[in-house]
Amino acid sequence: MVQSIRKAVFPIAGLGTRFLPATKASPKEMLTVVDKPLIQYAVEEAYAAGIRQMIFVTGRTKRSIEDHFDTAYELESELEAAGKHELLQVVRSIKPDDMQVVYVRQHRALGLGHAVLCARELVGNEAFAVLLADDLMVGEPSITSQMVRQYEEWRASILAVQDVPREETRRYGIVSGTALNDRLVDVSGIVEKPSPEDAPSTLAVAGRYILTPGIFDELANQQQGVGGEIQLTDAIASMLRREKIFAFRYEGKRYDCGSKLGFLQATVDLAKTHSGVGQDFTQWLAMREEATPAFDAQGVEN
Ligand code: UTP
Repeated sequence: MVQSIRKAVFPIAGLGTRFLPATKASPKEMLTVVDKPLIQYAVEEAYAAGIRQMIFVTGRTKRSIEDHFDTAYELESELEAAGKHELLQVVRSIKPDDMQVVYVRQHRALGLGHAVLCARELVGNEAFAVLLADDLMVGEPSITSQMVRQYEEWRASILAVQDVPREETRRYGIVSGTALNDRLVDVSGIVEKPSPEDAPSTLAVAGRYILTPGIFDELANQQQGVGGEIQLTDAIASMLRREKIFAFRYEGKRYDCGSKLGFLQATVDLAKTHSGVGQDFTQWLAMREEATPAFDAQGVEN
């Protein structure tokens, strides 16, 4: 079967203020969970969904991402000479030969919607995926694979959604609509970061989208929205007047690695299941639980 979604856009030009000071001079997408930077998890997720062209919308301080996906001749030849074939494989697998990586620059961080618009020429007239790498998604099959499957069935834009506590609606785009089944909602409205009182539901958009190319005209016509930014959510709301859009409750787990707490939760969970350190780390955690005496606020043992 012909691959329906061939291109993925990774907006990585945000300022990452919630993770300062770590993100002052290096991008938050290069923050590492166990042994891989966030952006690599997202690229692997897209690759697992059959996508081969990765479009990075980059900004200031993002050079390390370009280096990460470039060939490292010196490192590779050192590893080869030292007979470290497993590590060589790890390094080479970051960018498989059949994967293409292209870059476009967002000169000013004018918002997620504006970042997606920067990829217009590279995407062209076809549906595409958008992955926000600071949302680390764990699922089997990958969340993007699940969404591509939905796109193939409905041939319409698909938004990944999850239920959140009502007091958290202010952090997300929130959709409303008619449930078609347990997982799928025919979207009738979407609003960016509503207060809990105003939120039309508690169904929040996570950082994965499949979008039809119609989104680009909507983005080009968008005024600044919440926070003075060109919002992807507003463009999706405008597109609803012309096209059907579905929200899809994906099967899996999301870690908000743009926040410190989410990042720490991802680190612990993924370390526990990691093929190299998982067993030792889990044991260490259990022993620590048993052995560590409780300390009071002054560090005095009780
Ligand atoms: P966020 O809302 O997480 O913003 O962006 P941010 O600036 O990266 O982080 P904080 O809130 O200041 O900590 C969601 C996604 O959109 C990208 C970000 O890189 C992130 O993947 N983005 C955001 C852009 O590419 N350009 C922008 O102008 C804004």
